[in-house]
This record gives sequence, structure tokens and C-alpha cells, in this order.
Amino acid sequence: MQATKRHIWNGVIREFYDLLPGIKDDSIVTLREGNTPLIEVLTMGDLFGKGIRIFLKYEGLNPTASFKDRGMTMAVSKAKEEGSHAVICASTGNTSASAAAYAARGGLRAYVLIPEGKIALGKLSQAMMHGATVIQVEGNFDDALAIVKEVSNTYPVTLVNSINPYRIEGQKTAAFEVCSHLGYAPTYHFLPVGNAGNITAYWRGYKEFREKGIIDTLPKMMGFEAEGAAPIVRGYPIKNPETVASAIRIGNPSSWENAVKARDESGGVIDMVSDDEIINAYKLLAKEGVFCEPASAASLAGVIKMHKNDIFKSGDTIVCTLTGHGLKDPDTAIKSSDKPVSVEAELSKVVRVLGF
Ligand code: F0G
Repeated sequence: MQATKRHIWNGVIREFYDLLPGIKDDSIVTLREGNTPLIEVLTMGDLFGKGIRIFLKYEGLNPTASFKDRGMTMAVSKAKEEGSHAVICASTGNTSASAAAYAARGGLRAYVLIPEGKIALGKLSQAMMHGATVIQVEGNFDDALAIVKEVSNTYPVTLVNSINPYRIEGQKTAAFEVCSHLGYAPTYHFLPVGNAGNITAYWRGYKEFREKGIIDTLPKMMGFEAEGAAPIVRGYPIKNPETVASAIRIGNPSSWENAVKARDESGGVIDMVSDDEIINAYKLLAKEGVFCEPASAASLAGVIKMHKNDIFKSGDTIVCTLTGHGLKDPDTAIKSSDKPVSVEAELSKVVRVLGF
């Protein structure tokens, strides 16, 4: 058989070149991020009963296993183009993993500040393996972000948190992909909200496709915070945010105003879900064969909550962004599952446990 040369995905900057800020080709730092699958939910029966389709945008399949790679390729490429030799970020884990990988790829140094003891193990291992300087701060994400902002204002290092405008530009490409995969815009787009960059980015992406006449309608943007870290829902910053979904353990989001705009312009909702609701959705997704991290499951938990309020109609299309891979947080996965059974290495004993 002859191998046929097919189009190989070139990463979001090259694939969406005309829709992103210009960048010199030799500055592009990419790991061929993007082009993640949109997977239809098969089981959650009673929602289907009403002719509603739910799709999962599985962003855990990006190179560093979260959606952050879409924005990081832009931010690190621009830093390189501008002659920067180092990047810095505060992170609940995924941004630091992505910054470390893309900086390594581009030959830049990475400095990452994380809340001590509060980031999932997989994410910490990524930042360490890619050679970032990892600093654990005795405080939370919001404290770490205030410090890195100061450092980048004073020292020769580029900030790659989502207040860096190139991050949002790169992340909006996920909305382009959703529309291209479906052939239209969904009725609702559900996603977890932490620092609120991603809801800002998706809304920008959808609006740009609408302005270009590529889609006819816009989705309602449905953002979900964790109950113990829900500043936007409550209307004030949370001093000590707490949630099992460590990725969105944020008390004072940078893109607060833009998230509110996305909600209001789209006619959507920003609401919250409890840790129990998050873990329930996390397990339901695993039963579908899709493993995401707890924060990601806030999107589906939001769908379930809204379904109870009976907002969906037959024919609605719902997209949930699953922002990060389940392997990022093995501790929560193991805590949420039945323990393996130990048995002697003897056929009869194994068969008895198997129940045959
Ligand atoms: N889901 C995951 C898995 C995340 O890592 C984050 C944010 C979010 C959702 C929320 O996205 O901040 O754009 O509203 N993680 C950041 C980090 C804060 O440092 O990795 P957002």
C-alpha cells in the first residue's frame, strides 16, 4: 500500500493565520496544538429524550493536555518575536505546564508561581520536567498573580497569563473549531470559569465568525464557577477561595468584566456548581469514556443544573468545553473511584472476585 500525504495539522497560528494577529513565521513556537475532537455525548438519557444534542470539546487532547496551549503558542511566539528571553506566569497548574513546555520549545526561560500544595500533581510534574523555575507561593493564585504582574512591569520578562492579549487571541480558535466541526454555532456553550480568560476568548471567536458571515447565530455563553470560588456570581472577590476543582480556585478573576460582557451580550448565564455536582459530572463523563479534570466537569455540571431549571428545547445543540485532561489530577481520580481489589495470584481466587 502506498502512503498518501494528507493535510497535517500545523497548529493554531498557521491554521488560522488570517484570523490572528500577524507574526513572523520563524518566530512561531508550536507543538501543533488545536484540532481537538468534538465528541457527542451518548448516554445521559433524559436530555436526549427531548432531542437535545450535547458535544464535548475535549481540550485535554492538546499537547500539554489543556486548552492553555492555544493561547500559549501565541503568547510565547510573540514574546520570541519581540526579542524576550523569558516568560513568567502565576498558575493553578495548567498555565504553568503550558508556559514551561512552549518556553522550552522556543528556547526561552520560564518562571512559574503556583499556590503551594494546591496544584494537581500532573501539572506540577510538567512544569518541573520542562525545566521551568517553579516557585511555590504561600498564598493563593490571586496573590501569585499580583506578584508576577509587578515582576513583569519591572524586569525583562514577558507575562503570559491571560491578561497578555495574545493569550485570548490564540484561545478564540477553539470557537472557530467548534463552528467548523458542527457547521453552525451551538445554541449554548458551557464552560468552567476561573480567571475568566476562556469565556472571553470563546465569545470573541464566535463574534468574529458571525461578523465574517461564517455563522448565522451566536451561542448563549454559560460560565460556571465553583461554589467556593464564585466571585462573579456573588459579586465580590473571594479572599480564600476553596474547591476540589483546583484549576478554578480563583477569587478575583482578571477578565471579570469581559466575562460579564460575554454573559450579557449573549443572553447567557454565569452561575456556580458545588463540589459534589462537579464530582458527579466528572464521574458521568468518565462513564462516557472521557476523562477530564474536575474543573472541566463544571461545564457538564452546569448543563445538569440548567436542565433541572428546564431551559433546553428540542433541537438545541449544547457544547461543553472539557478544559483539561483527567490525568492531570490522578489524586482526585483515585479518591473518586472504587479501590482496586487485591487478590492472591491464583486462578480460582481471581475468578471468584470476577464473579463468574
Ligand atoms: N479549566 C481548567 C482545567 C483550567 O486550568 C482553568 C484555568 C480553567 C478551567 C478556567 O479558565 O481561567 O480562562 O476562566 N486555569 C488557569 C491556570 C487559571 O493557571 O492554569 P479561565
